[in-house]
Amino acid sequence: MKKNIILTGFMGTGKSTLGRLLARQLNYKFIDTDSEIEKRSGKTVADIFREDGEAAFRQQEKELVEELAQKQGLVISTGGGLVMNPQNVQNLRKSGEIVCLTASPDEILERVSKQPETRPLLKEAEPLEKIRELLQQRSSTYAQFRQLPTSGQSPDELTTRLLEMLQFV
Ligand code: S3P
Repeated sequence: MKKNIILTGFMGTGKSTLGRLLARQLNYKFIDTDSEIEKRSGKTVADIFREDGEAAFRQQEKELVEELAQKQGLVISTGGGLVMNPQNVQNLRKSGEIVCLTASPDEILERVSKQPETRPLLKEAEPLEKIRELLQQRSSTYAQFRQLPTSGQSPDELTTRLLEMLQFV
């Protein structure tokens, strides 16, 4: 049985990049929850937040998780807020291993600044403050998972680290 591998963590910690690389190495299918929601709804995440509200987006995340948790052999990169719903965590845990990627607030800001329009929660006058505030709110949730610090490491190095953590090497 190929248990799913789930990468979570705050925005800009590299979940999608790493998830894609890991899936390729393991010959698993890669799913990014934000991209999947965009594909299914025909709207960007930013549009869903603006037109339908955050609650509608969270509902779509929840339905997607219920579906993905029934499958195997997936590498799933989650949106950063998805694990704030304990029901999602419960479903994901049943289907596989969850690893949380971490980075400092400054690194997160640097990474998300490359595509600011895709992160509606950080559309603020002081994005660094907002990042700190959200990290604070989410710290105990993220802390329940195995942690993989991403600072100063290349995507390839991190993929190797992840494979070691998950005992694939
Ligand atoms: C969010 C993270 C985003 C996306 C949405 C909300 C969050 O995904 O799901 O903008 O609440 O942290 P990434 O973590 O992939 O940026």
